[in-house]
Amino acid sequence: MVQFTSQKMDRNAPCWCGSGKKYKNCHMAFDEKIREYELKGALVPDRNLLKTSKDVEGIKASAKINIAVLDEIAEKIHEGMSTQEIDDIVYNTTVKMGGIPADLHYEGYPKSVCTSVNDQVCHGIPSPDVILQDGDIVNVDCSTILNGYFSDSSRMFCIGEVDPAWRRLVDVTKECVEIGVKAVKPWTFMGDMGNAVHQHALDNGYTVVKEIGGHGCGLEFHEDPFVSYVSKPGTEMLMVPGMCFTIEPMVNMGTDEIYEDDSNGWSIYTADGKPSAQWEVQVLVTETGCEVLTY
Ligand code: MF3
Ligand code: CO
Repeated sequence: MVQFTSQKMDRNAPCWCGSGKKYKNCHMAFDEKIREYELKGALVPDRNLLKTSKDVEGIKASAKINIAVLDEIAEKIHEGMSTQEIDDIVYNTTVKMGGIPADLHYEGYPKSVCTSVNDQVCHGIPSPDVILQDGDIVNVDCSTILNGYFSDSSRMFCIGEVDPAWRRLVDVTKECVEIGVKAVKPWTFMGDMGNAVHQHALDNGYTVVKEIGGHGCGLEFHEDPFVSYVSKPGTEMLMVPGMCFTIEPMVNMGTDEIYEDDSNGWSIYTADGKPSAQWEVQVLVTETGCEVLTY
C-alpha cells in the first residue's frame, strides 16, 4: 500500500489539514515520518482517516449527544423494562438533542440501538418481548450522527442481583477497555493495543471474540481500520495523531466461538450459551496518547 507517495504536496501549498499554514510548516514532517514507516513495510493510515480540527469539533459535538443518551439509559434502566423501552429512550433523547440514531436503518437494521443480553454477544435487537430480568447483564450500544459526524459507545448494565462471576466478567471487560485506552500511543501499532486488551482477558480466564471488533469512526459510522483485540504486538495499522477509532472488545466467559441468529441476520450469540460482555469507547489519537471522546 503506497498511499502517501500518491498524495505528494507542494511544500508551499496550504496544508491538507485545513490549518491554513503552508504544508512545509505544518504536516510535511509528519507525512515524511509516516512514509518512513510505510517504506519499512508498516500498514499506515491513509490521509482520509486523519481527522482535522474541524472534524474533531464535529465528532465531539456528536459525542456529547452519544454520552447523554447512555447517561439517560443509566438513569432509567431497570428490572421489568423491555428492551423496546430502551430503544424508545435512545430514539427520543437523540432526536430531542438534534441527532440521528446511527443504527436506525443502517444496512437494514430495524432499531435505534443494540441491546445484547447475557449470551448475546452483540447486535441484540430491542423488542417489547425482551424483558430485563433480575440477574441479567445487558450491553446497550448506542451510535449517533450529528451534522454528518459519527460517535459510538456502549456500556454494560447489571440488572438487580447479578451472579458475582458474571459481575466480574463485566468489570474485567471494562478494565480491558481501560488498558486498551492506556495502550493507545502515537507511533505504536494497533496490535500493541489489541494484544494488551486480549492479555487482560486471558489472564482472567476469559476469551475474546475474533471475528467482530472495533473500527475507525467519525466521518462515517464504520471506517478503516478494523480493530482487533486478539492482535499481536507490532502488527496491524500504525497509530498516528488524528486517527479516531473505537475500543470495544467482546469478552466471553467461555468459548470465543459465536453464531449468528439466522432468524434476524443480526444478533450474535456465544456458541456455549455462557455470558459475554462488552464496553465501548471512541478515542482520538493525540501527540501523547489518546483522548476518550465517548463512553
Ligand atoms: N454500534 C455497533 C458498533 O459498535 C454497530 C451496530 S450496527 C447495527 O460498531 F446496525 F447493528 F446497529
Ligand atoms: Co462500534
